[in-house]
Amino acid sequence: MAAPTPSIPLSPELPAGLPDTLELARWAGELFNALPNGAQHQALTPPDPNGITTPLPHQLPTNIAPESAQNAQAIASAAPALIPDAQAGNGVPDFAATRPHGFIGNRGGHAQTVPQAYAAAPTIDVPAPPATDQPFYFLAEPQTPVLPSSSTPDQRLGLSAYALPGLDDLAGLILAEPRTTDAPVTSTSNFYFLDGSLSPNATPFGEVPTQEPEHRVAFDVNTVRHDFPILAERVNGRPLVWFDNAATTHKPQAVIDRLAYFYAHENSNIHRAAHELAARATDAYEDARKKVARFIGAGSTDEIIFVRGATEAINLIAKTWGKKNVGAGDEIIVSNLEHHANIVPWLQLAQETGAKLRVIPVDDSGQVLLGEYQRLLSPRTKLVSVTQVSNALGTVVPVKEIIDLAHRVGAKALVDGAQSVSHMRVDVQALDADFFVFSGHKVFAPTGIGVAYGKRAILEDMPAWQGGGNMISDVTFERALFQGPPSRFEAGTGNIADAAGLGAAIDYVERIGIENIAAYEHELLDYATALLKDIQGLRLIGTAQDKASVLSFVLTGYAPEEVGKALNEEGIAVRAGHHCAQPILRRFGQEATVRASLAFYNTREEVELLAAVLRRLRTARPV
Ligand code: ALA
Repeated sequence: MAAPTPSIPLSPELPAGLPDTLELARWAGELFNALPNGAQHQALTPPDPNGITTPLPHQLPTNIAPESAQNAQAIASAAPALIPDAQAGNGVPDFAATRPHGFIGNRGGHAQTVPQAYAAAPTIDVPAPPATDQPFYFLAEPQTPVLPSSSTPDQRLGLSAYALPGLDDLAGLILAEPRTTDAPVTSTSNFYFLDGSLSPNATPFGEVPTQEPEHRVAFDVNTVRHDFPILAERVNGRPLVWFDNAATTHKPQAVIDRLAYFYAHENSNIHRAAHELAARATDAYEDARKKVARFIGAGSTDEIIFVRGATEAINLIAKTWGKKNVGAGDEIIVSNLEHHANIVPWLQLAQETGAKLRVIPVDDSGQVLLGEYQRLLSPRTKLVSVTQVSNALGTVVPVKEIIDLAHRVGAKALVDGAQSVSHMRVDVQALDADFFVFSGHKVFAPTGIGVAYGKRAILEDMPAWQGGGNMISDVTFERALFQGPPSRFEAGTGNIADAAGLGAAIDYVERIGIENIAAYEHELLDYATALLKDIQGLRLIGTAQDKASVLSFVLTGYAPEEVGKALNEEGIAVRAGHHCAQPILRRFGQEATVRASLAFYNTREEVELLAAVLRRLRTARPV
């Protein structure tokens, strides 16, 4: 049977009377989108959520049409912010550097992508998604937006929602963004591999600049929000409020552009081909490794192993270093705060080897008890593995003290940085961590890429994990000889594009400044904590003095899932459940909590909205 032809949403009617402005906006769109050869970029055409390209009314380029003269300036000033990310690893300038930044209104109907009201315009014969047993508790219905037939025109997207600029604004914008073309691709590879040596322009790792990035911008939440296209989404007719940052963070346009650039200009396998694209891809991958090393203060790129995420990183360490170094009667210490990813691999290792897992308890605020920890340490302790920030409570754990104490008994120390790297400066050498792990997607990078850091001497001594290509130096049918780290632990084709995306995310964070991020989030967390504490029957779980990002709570009279559902109806995304950290929730007598987790693109207004919805729930069921 032939597949049903997808139909195209009808364009809402636009008021007459502005043909010149529309024409000018269309012209501006073509100008910005034009490729040197005259072809049109499709990248700025917002994708329809159902996978159907949705033509905007008169092909109006909404994502470059500024809302006001001020916003026209914002576009011009936001564009340079892309530049560092738009540089390919091989130094090739990216067309994105000269492309106007997608413009987003944080509130109201100025969504960068297809606004919900428009996406919901009446359609012809769009097949409904098949009914499924929706596994997510709060999505009772498939999320295909359908505007009721009784909708009045102003429920759809009218011209005012596009906030068309005045002619002067647009002319100014166009003048501010001169048309440029892709620069010719010329490789300045400094990781050229054909003869196995670095090019004359090579920058050995030790010379990677460690000074503060030159182009750091002053922190302004409304400006940084413009960098994240998804923040303009609408959910249930409301502006999206993303308070699920501990689960994953959103991606700035610079990261999205970096991925597109990789696939458009660099895509190849790495390290093993005699051609230009392999050189570019190799550079992209290895440059990302340099950025990671610098970001976490590692002493060498050889200490940076690319993995899928923090979970895979811990598994790698447990199954290589752990198997070699932990035996019957040995002890591994974790804290009560740990994510399952920092419990289960050690339980598995303990079961296989006869080792024991010991647990550092926490006080009633959710902070680890260092005195109790000291009592657990002994010559039997082989490893102490702790999170730097609790994903469930937000506690910032004093990992430096924990590492120092571990080293005194000859144990190694692993720090799970999954929840810390996006919120605070990390320096693995200053911490003296033996291992440090994190996931890219929690620090504004793509999913599927993460890092296992290990001190070089320890990695040198670790057996290989997975076997295959890329990690060997010689293979016969009798034996295989392995590369040194990090290649020894990177069998097969790595996640090359997403590694480049991680590099772009790190550039982005460094441009904003991690200290700026930490200071802003700290203030926002204090503000949110004060508002939530005022709500009767709301109990915050996790009240440590030193906290980052997370507000975990229960509301008397409501199951956490109910609260999550009510918040989702208002466009607010939180996680409700056990957060993959059952032991710490049970420590506080809970099986589940509601968790709002902040990032630097969240605002006071969003926090106020959260508190307002919770107060409304409170009023509906007084305690
Ligand atoms: N570790 C992620 C969280 O805390 C998935 O939600």
